[in-house]
Amino acid sequence: MSETWILLGASSAMARALARALARNGARLVLAGRDLDDLGRTAADAEMRGAARAVAVRFDARDPASFDAVLAAAGDGVVNAACFTGTMPPQDRIDADPALIDGTIADSLTGPARMLHLIAARIEAEGAGTIVGVGSVAGDRGRLGNYVYGAAKGGFAVYLSGLRNRLTRAGGHVVTVKPGFVDTAMTWGLPGMFLVAAPEAVARDILRAVARRRSVIYTPGFWRLIMLIIRAIPEPVFKKMKI
Ligand SMILES: NC(=O)c1ccc[n+]([C@@H]2O[C@H](COP(=O)([O-])OP(=O)(O)OC[C@H]3O[C@@H](n4cnc5c(N)ncnc54)[C@H](OP(=O)(O)O)[C@@H]3O)[C@@H](O)[C@H]2O)c1
Repeated sequence: MSETWILLGASSAMARALARALARNGARLVLAGRDLDDLGRTAADAEMRGAARAVAVRFDARDPASFDAVLAAAGDGVVNAACFTGTMPPQDRIDADPALIDGTIADSLTGPARMLHLIAARIEAEGAGTIVGVGSVAGDRGRLGNYVYGAAKGGFAVYLSGLRNRLTRAGGHVVTVKPGFVDTAMTWGLPGMFLVAAPEAVARDILRAVARRRSVIYTPGFWRLIMLIIRAIPEPVFKKMKI
């Protein structure tokens, strides 16, 4: 019996790369997101590459009424999920219009958490299943350039940590993924990018982490060391830095 995976935010280039890799393993895929045309194309591509089944389903993190249908599309039995949902409005736009904070948190933290809570209940009922939550190195320390997005991702990492604690007891598992810079729509044209990873490399790291039941991974792995150093900078120094 092939695995069933729900991909939330499936129009992300990282999610698309994961869908391709899962398709090669013959998985059944639920591609959830807002852009149904894009998801339909990924579903067709996945079935061509070997997916047992791939369907596109509407999922809007700001609309909890869309959540039940996502889980229903996965059918009965054990489900796995990977959540790529998130938005990163420029910090100066948020500073000029603080109302943008609500949407940023809804896209990256509260919406995903409510959706994953539904999936967590299924994992508890089945006694199996894995959730992959995509956070960010930005969640490891608040910094000038993106601290609202960072707050959402930091909150998401704390949520995933608690969820892992809960689901481990039920036979499930939660992997927290913290990418550094990845070549996707989110970072396209942004200044100051370095050591930019390919979405396919992130997908490979995710699958390896799932197979090894890792708890928290940085991808690429060298970001663990970079963030260790950044977290170690004393606050009196850090508050004057512009990184
Ligand atoms: N690129 C990087 O360097 C980087 C680094 C660290 C972490 N990340 C994280 O990696 C994940 C994937 O991002 P990406 O880089 O691939 O950028 P992306 O293409 O912008 O992907 C973000 C995904 O979230 C979806 N989304 C946003 N708001 C949503 C909402 N309200 N409801 C449903 N879906 C929503 C987007 O769907 P639409 O297509 O409908 O907008 C898209 O599928 C994000 O969580 C991001 O924060 C990215």
